[in-house]
Amino acid sequence: MGGLSSEREISLKSGAAISAALARLGYHQIPIDVDHDIALTLRREHIDVAFIALHGRYGEDGAIQGLLEIMHIPYTGSKLTASAVAMDKIATDGLLKARKLPVPKTLVLRQTETRHLETMPLPLQLPFVVKPVSEGSSVGVSIVKTASEIKAALAHAFRFGDKVLLQSYISGKEIHVGILDEKPLGAIEIKSKGAFYDYDAKYVPGMSEHLFPAPLPPEVYQHLLDLALQAHQALGCSGYSRVDLLIDSDMKPYILEINTLPGMTETSLMPEMARKCGIDFDTLVEQILNTADIEHGD
Ligand SMILES: Nc1ncnc2c1ncn2[C@@H]1O[C@H](COP(=O)(O)OP(=O)(O)O)[C@@H](O)[C@H]1O
Ligand SMILES: [Mg+2]
Repeated sequence: MGGLSSEREISLKSGAAISAALARLGYHQIPIDVDHDIALTLRREHIDVAFIALHGRYGEDGAIQGLLEIMHIPYTGSKLTASAVAMDKIATDGLLKARKLPVPKTLVLRQTETRHLETMPLPLQLPFVVKPVSEGSSVGVSIVKTASEIKAALAHAFRFGDKVLLQSYISGKEIHVGILDEKPLGAIEIKSKGAFYDYDAKYVPGMSEHLFPAPLPPEVYQHLLDLALQAHQALGCSGYSRVDLLIDSDMKPYILEINTLPGMTETSLMPEMARKCGIDFDTLVEQILNTADIEHGD
């Protein structure tokens, strides 16, 4: 839990909730705040299995998964490659497109290409979304409605890397699908109080409203579940994930991203969907624990 990413605070909350559940379930658990000396800590603690409660860089992007592979420590959730692909929005876009899965129109912009921005024709029609390649929790994401907002949006996103994504803005409903044990749990609709599902809408109680199951015609609902599972499979994810989608007013769906380590605080979306499907938090935690490939550890 914790770790070195911009989502550290959320991860500490996910980790605390998971630790408490594991303790209630009778497991001997050791909460570990991941720092640069994590390999030494893991060696010292002689753990049987790592329950990964990290989000973002080094935790959700294959880095910790690679270390655990080298150390022969089984771990929960997706493996190294799927984690790395899912964290990288350029790689995800390419893989989903290759499978003919629907994604918003997306362009990649390097920092060096923005020098003459003022004199360039707009690379994408307004409105569009600017986002970093490998962040989460909406960190660095802006919606650009007018040309005057472009500069600030790019500067904000470039703080997180030398490439950013420009994506057509999809006006419509935001739907997230939870996948557990390779099956969709259901689809939840998110109504944000602000312009989009930003950091505050995600973590400040009352800043977003959740509707589960998402009120959609049954065939549309089922189509979103199918698409989410296909996206999870296209990236080679395992165990569980949360797939973010948008659906426009013509009911045309778009896949935004696949979160391989979705938030696991007691008020996060994945636990909320599970609870509404009759799977309480502790049962969810135990089901995720069972996704670890324990036979392959030492
Ligand atoms: N193309 C888009 N059109 C409309 N809203 C978007 C688009 N892309 C992102 N958003 C909004 O920004 C939020 C965060 O974007 P997302 O791609 O899921 O990145 P993150 O990894 O930070 O969650 C989404 O939940 C959505 O509210
Ligand atoms: Mg998202």
